[in-house]
Order: sequence, then structure tokens, then C-alpha cells
Amino acid sequence: MLNIKKLWKNGKTNENLDARIESVKRQKMPKHIAIIMDGNGRWAKKRSLPRVAGHHEGMKVVRKITRLANHLGVGALTLYAFSTENWKRPKLEVEFLMKLPEEFLGTFLPELIEENVRVTMVGHKEHLPKHTLAAIEKAMEATKHNTGLVLNFALNYGSRAEIIEAVRDVLIDVKSGIMDPNDINESSFAQYLMTSDLEDPDLLIRTSGEIRLSNFMLWQLAYSEFWFTDVLWPDFDEEHLIQAVEVFQNRSRRYGGINSEES
Ligand code: FPP
Repeated sequence: MLNIKKLWKNGKTNENLDARIESVKRQKMPKHIAIIMDGNGRWAKKRSLPRVAGHHEGMKVVRKITRLANHLGVGALTLYAFSTENWKRPKLEVEFLMKLPEEFLGTFLPELIEENVRVTMVGHKEHLPKHTLAAIEKAMEATKHNTGLVLNFALNYGSRAEIIEAVRDVLIDVKSGIMDPNDINESSFAQYLMTSDLEDPDLLIRTSGEIRLSNFMLWQLAYSEFWFTDVLWPDFDEEHLIQAVEVFQNRSRRYGGINSEES
């Protein structure tokens, strides 16, 4: 298991946070946490830095949060790293974002392998630059037998397109007789989505004060608990993740039913 001391700067531990970590570990942990990492540009602007400086700082936060999620025993962590709409950004910013997986995995992959983390990806691979895809595929291959945290990057991902593609694939299978229309239900349909190997997120986190989904996992988030924070992604740290998990653990999830004690 990961050395918790590595989580903190200078190897110093924060005793209060350590106690909170131990406390959340004793309670129901979200099996899958999804994060919309927002606010990199504003973080940079506040410091009169170029927007890409915010993305670079945001990448460092991915490392911290991955370590802690793995330590907590979370099953999967999906990070919205690039949406299908993000291609509209200036060319240099897009190019910078597309280099981050290489930089991140170039230094962090050995630790991910050692810590039993499995790297996966959802999104359209076709339009990604070769070097971006190569870095992700190398990490996926090197970690494919790992059984710990699934670190799932949403890259060139858009949920509406994902759903339309799934509908198209269902129709193809119905037409060719592989699928009986009577067998189409929520769980069989979910098998056609890019997330077919993952459980739906229990907890969605979005940073930077924006309260919207931005075409992220529209099907999969149907029953997730949402936690929004004004904190900009580059300022997000272990304490914020623990706060989100604590809030999650105090929520009552009824899935449209009622609590057993109310019946
Ligand atoms: C949104 O903030 C953020 C992104 C589009 C990119 C997120 C990417 C990272 C945090 C790094 C990913 C790391 C790896 C390893 C793939 P924004 O730029 O829209 O912020 P703003 O709303 O303040 O302008």
C-alpha cells in the first residue's frame, strides 16, 4: 500500500487530516469518483501567468489526488481532462494539453505500476495526436493486470456523442440479429457505452464554482451525488478530496425510494 507520508509536502504529515483519512476509510467509500477539473485558466490569470501554467499546475494535482484515491481504496477515478468541445481553444493551448499525458505518465508511470493502479481511457482515440495516444496506450498496456485503483482519463470525450454511438451500435446489432429489441434495457444499453467496464460514479466533483455537467457522463451520473466547490483545480488538494468524501458519506442515497426507517 502507498506510503501516506509521500502525500504531504516535505514528508510532513498533517495529523488532523490523517485522522480524517482514517475516519473516512472506516465508512462507505465511493467506488467511483468522477472529477470535472475546472478553473486552471482562472488560476493562471490571477497570477498573471499564461493559461497553460494553470494546466501544468493542474497536472500536479492529478498526481496528488490519484495517490490519495488509491490510498483510500477508491475503485475508479475518472478525470475529465479534455472534452470534445475543447478543440475550440487556441491551437497552442490544445497542443499543450495534448502533451500533458506524456509528461505526466513519463514521470509517474513507474509509481502507478508499483502502486497497482490501472490506467484506462474513455473518449475518441481517433483524433488524438499520435504522441498523446502512444503515451496513454503504453500506460494502459503496462498496467493492464493491475487490480488497484482504475485511473480513467476522459480525453476527447463527449457524452452526447457517446450515447448516439451506443444507439447506433445497438441498432446494428438488432439489424444483424445479435440483439433482440426486447432485451434492450438499462444494463444492456450501458454495455454499449465507453464506460462498460466501470460502475457508474457514486460521487461527482466539479471545481471552480461552475454548476453544470458540460456534456460529461450524462447517462452514468444519473444517480451520483454531486459536490461542487469554488476552489480552482490547481488549488485542490487532499483536504478537499477528503471533504468531498465526508459529505458523500453523510448523504442519504435513496435512488427514488425512501429510507427504510421512514417506512
Ligand atoms: C478546464 O479548466 C480544464 C481543462 C480543459 C484541462 C484539465 C486538464 C488538467 C487539469 C491536466 C490533466 C492532466 C493529465 C495528466 C491529462 P479551464 O481551462 O476551462 O479553466 P477556466 O474555466 O478557469 O478557464
